[in-house]
Amino acid sequence: MRILSGIQPSGALHIGNYFGAIRQYIALQEEHEAFYFIANYHALTSVRDAATMRRNTFDAFVDLLALGLDPAKATLFVQSDVPETVELAWLLTTVTPMGWLEKCVSFKDKVQQGIPAEHGLFAYPVLMAADILLYDADLVPVGQDQRQHLEITRDVAERFNNVYGPAEVFRLPKPYILDNVAVVPGLDGRKMSKSYGNTIEIFDDPAVIKKKVKKIVTDSAPVEAPKDPDKCSLMALYRLFAGAEDLDDVERRYREGGIGYGEMKTRLADAIIARFDGPRALRAEWVADPDRVAKVRAEGAERAHAAARTVLARARTACGMA
Ligand code: ADP
Ligand code: TRP
Repeated sequence: MRILSGIQPSGALHIGNYFGAIRQYIALQEEHEAFYFIANYHALTSVRDAATMRRNTFDAFVDLLALGLDPAKATLFVQSDVPETVELAWLLTTVTPMGWLEKCVSFKDKVQQGIPAEHGLFAYPVLMAADILLYDADLVPVGQDQRQHLEITRDVAERFNNVYGPAEVFRLPKPYILDNVAVVPGLDGRKMSKSYGNTIEIFDDPAVIKKKVKKIVTDSAPVEAPKDPDKCSLMALYRLFAGAEDLDDVERRYREGGIGYGEMKTRLADAIIARFDGPRALRAEWVADPDRVAKVRAEGAERAHAAARTVLARARTACGMA
């Protein structure tokens, strides 16, 4: 099976992104042929500064490498290194009814908030369809919020196949929605999210991680009071990091009383820092060697190109462009 997913270079990854998405994406490289890309064409709808765009793209690329994406197992590339994407997006655009795009939430939200939307935001789902169809992807791992875009991808593919059939031009991809993953709480107890400003970034400095963990909101139960481990953000986060035995011990001390939030915060901060020690060191190595990053990027682009060329040729032939 061929797996494909894209990640927008829109800023530093947080712990919610890691446990909710990235960790699972990377694990898929072991069993499948995987393609992952940094979706910089998509990010143009929000990032409007060349230097920021380049930096974010580089950062997202090395973040994935540092977190275990192995270029020997998976193809990691930057979307704009394969400009064929944009040609395919145009071919698809010509068979996509306006109505399908008008009902898309990302576009509707912006319009409802009274913010003027660019055509790029409107056409975004067609570009996403091109991203996916260009690689004959079978399975696309994404968060729940992308379900609608995946449906449009399938609809557009079927439409193109029907219009230009009988030979099948595009393979219909299936979404792989990670909807049974726990929601990781942020510093204020709400879902950890960039838009709430309540995040702990994976590659924050250890000192910053300690400072942020101290800010996590708890009730004011004293050390000796029994506490419900299922009603505490510190515990919800700690479960992501602790070993089974340690967790049993801490949960017992919660229920019996005898563990305070101060101690829990120290434990949690230490656990987060220790968990990402390896990736942090790896990341520093990649950052110190931009030539090596550039080489991985060029190799990824070449492999992605090889896959994309075949599919684009099929599409061009089907509609008489070649
Ligand atoms: P943000 O809310 O910070 O903007 P995104 O929407 O860019 O995050 O999320 C990227 C991916 O990370 C999504 O597929 C989503 O499933 C996952 N994710 C984000 N925040 C969390 C969280 N708090 N808990 C679990 N998964 C999350
Ligand atoms: N739209 C996705 C997001 O915002 C990113 C993305 C772009 C993507 N193209 C893709 C994901 C293709 C999967 C497949 O998270």
